[in-house]
Amino acid sequence: MKNSKSSDSLSDFEEYFESIKNLLLQRFNNIPKAFVRTYGCQQNVYDSEKIKGILHKMGCSFVQTCEEADIIVFNTCAVRKNAEDRVFGNVGALKSLKKKKPNLIIALCGCMTEQDHVAKKINDTFPFVDLVLGTNSIRNFPEFIYEVLTDNKHIFKTKINDVLLYEGTPIRRESKFRAFLPIMYGCDNFCSYCIVPYVRGREKSRASDAILNEFSQLVHEGYKDITLLGQNVNSYGKNLDENINFAKLLRKIDSIPGDYWIRFMTSHPKDATKELIDVMAEGKHICHHLHLPVQSGSNRILNLMNRRYTREKYLEIVHYLKEKIPDISITSDIIVGFPGETYADFCETLSLIKEVEFSSLFTFIYSKREGTPAAKLEDPIPYKEKSEWFKDLLQVQNGLTEKICNSYIGKIVKVLIEGTSANKGYLTARTQGNIIVDLPGSEQLIGKFVKAKITDVQGWFLKGEVI
Ligand code: SAH
Ligand code: SF4
Ligand code: F3S
Repeated sequence: MKNSKSSDSLSDFEEYFESIKNLLLQRFNNIPKAFVRTYGCQQNVYDSEKIKGILHKMGCSFVQTCEEADIIVFNTCAVRKNAEDRVFGNVGALKSLKKKKPNLIIALCGCMTEQDHVAKKINDTFPFVDLVLGTNSIRNFPEFIYEVLTDNKHIFKTKINDVLLYEGTPIRRESKFRAFLPIMYGCDNFCSYCIVPYVRGREKSRASDAILNEFSQLVHEGYKDITLLGQNVNSYGKNLDENINFAKLLRKIDSIPGDYWIRFMTSHPKDATKELIDVMAEGKHICHHLHLPVQSGSNRILNLMNRRYTREKYLEIVHYLKEKIPDISITSDIIVGFPGETYADFCETLSLIKEVEFSSLFTFIYSKREGTPAAKLEDPIPYKEKSEWFKDLLQVQNGLTEKICNSYIGKIVKVLIEGTSANKGYLTARTQGNIIVDLPGSEQLIGKFVKAKITDVQGWFLKGEVI
């Protein structure tokens, strides 16, 4: 066994797998059972698929509950306080389990682990956690598990490593037809409210060849709906020597033959170019959907948020989008109650969402994140008042969503069938605009594209029939 501190290529850590497999078999007297719980965004969902790929190579099978598991991994999110509180609550609940099963291995990874106050809380309150793994250390997971198994001590491996990407590590994808594909890691934007740049490190793009190869492979394997991931995909390529940007990458991917959809997120408005919109309009596979988080409609608040665009610039992009792609579906993120936001600022957000007519919104009440610049700003509006604004926002958006949904009635649209619906007897599908359609049909259609006629609207989703 190599006594290395970091694994730079797959073959470096490949050698751990056999030893770990044997050590785990000895420890549990059986095939070890793993449980991975994911909090947070699509980047974390993808990271969990990598972790599951590695656990699978270590000989693990997978279970659906903590109680059944020999190895528990929580992949955590730090973006808002309630996400963090939920993780702490769930980790606390593992204490009694560890008492009952002392051999149990508990690992925490993901964005929370990179924060000092979290490290302190784990040390002080949750000493039964065996391994804490930082966001950019996933490829070193086998090495660290090996240390847990051989040294029998607590391992704490955080502090962002900006150099290693996880090219070549195994993966175990959840779905056979929807896939995430990161094109870059980290974020350099430092929006004043946001913890992500501190816990995910500096922005780093993957080489376009690696992305194109992985994409082609996914299409070859039959994947139909592939989402390119990055905290700001529009700045793709900035650190590369290649002559490439996101629009050019998208054009190259779109030329891969096959029947599939390309999605991407997230687009930062400051870097959304006409070139990108032109590529979207001309593409054969690119969904007519743009998730373009605006956060606020007030220039004063956008400036305090360090978003580096104005309401006017945002609306200009939206107008160009609607002109070039008339059936575009635009979605967004909104933060209500940023420190110092007044009711007048909030009303500007309301007027912006009415002007744009987003097909849906992700809405959040501002959550203070220690270590970010916004955490130092005065925040005089009580939470109760922010909650009232928040309710108003939802009400306005619900009306707009319903209006957009109604405009689909009678139309024929291509949808991807994703599974069975909570609506008994129905399947659930998605349009390229990311709107859900429930429709009757055989489960054999799951994972396939079909044409559907939209017949009805139920709140924020559509009803239809396969034609
Ligand atoms: N890189 C992406 C996603 C960031 S996190 C982007 O720029 O859009 C997803 C969303 O969480 C953000 O768009 C923002 O609306 C919200 N968010 C981030 N930090 C937050 C905070 N401190 N309080 C409330 N919402 C926050
Ligand atoms: Fe956070 Fe802004 Fe980066 Fe998005 S672009 S991850 S909101 S800092
Ligand atoms: Fe959360 Fe990290 Fe994603 S903080 S939103 S899991 S990048």
